Amino acid sequence: MKKSICCIALALVMALSTVGLFTSCAKEKEKTLVMATNANFPPYEYKDGAAFAGIDVELAQAIADKLGMKLEIQDVEFGAIVAGVESGKYDIGMAGMTVTEDRKKQVSFSTTYATGVQVVIVKEGSAIQSPADITTSSKIGVQQDTTGDIHCSDDFGDDHVQRFNKGADAVAALVSGKLDCVVIDNEPAKSFVAANEGLKVLDTAYAVEDYAAAFAK
Ligand code: ARG
Repeated sequence: MKKSICCIALALVMALSTVGLFTSCAKEKEKTLVMATNANFPPYEYKDGAAFAGIDVELAQAIADKLGMKLEIQDVEFGAIVAGVESGKYDIGMAGMTVTEDRKKQVSFSTTYATGVQVVIVKEGSAIQSPADITTSSKIGVQQDTTGDIHCSDDFGDDHVQRFNKGADAVAALVSGKLDCVVIDNEPAKSFVAANEGLKVLDTAYAVEDYAAAFAK
């Protein structure tokens, strides 16, 4: 893992440095690389006690190390990351973030470093056995402003989607019977299912996406 984090970090540094981002932010931010993330998305970013941990955190640390910069992590709402990167408040957004055409209008993306799959979590024994079984009468939970939110709002209408601040809160609502399913990225889905009894991830994917780091145009 260490080796692959380093290789990915090097590729990202090379991709990002072609646009001169880090030469300018190194001057302006006194060699601090400010990363915006939303740290409730294991294994990409989460809190381990008071410390930040996860794949994106390790990647950003490796990028900062390569650039000789100190890494500062800002844990913000997921929906605030793109706008904050766009306005220059943060140097880089890393949050298991899917490259989308809309986001590309606001920020630039690095080369992609992982595939993310939107999956459906249900209770064991649920009538929903594949994404095709979800209807407008299903109670669907998502993390606000994520691609799960965007896809489900497009497919079933805004009013049919319940938005939560954190994926874990959507999963808690599923466990307590307030939802029929949660649409979320596969890796956090696996950890939420492992942490809660009686849940499963459906075999059929909802959507397949690419993750990349976001930075100002
Ligand atoms: N991949 C999805 C998206 O880009 C979800 C990312 C959520 N990330 C997070 N750190 N909460 O919309």
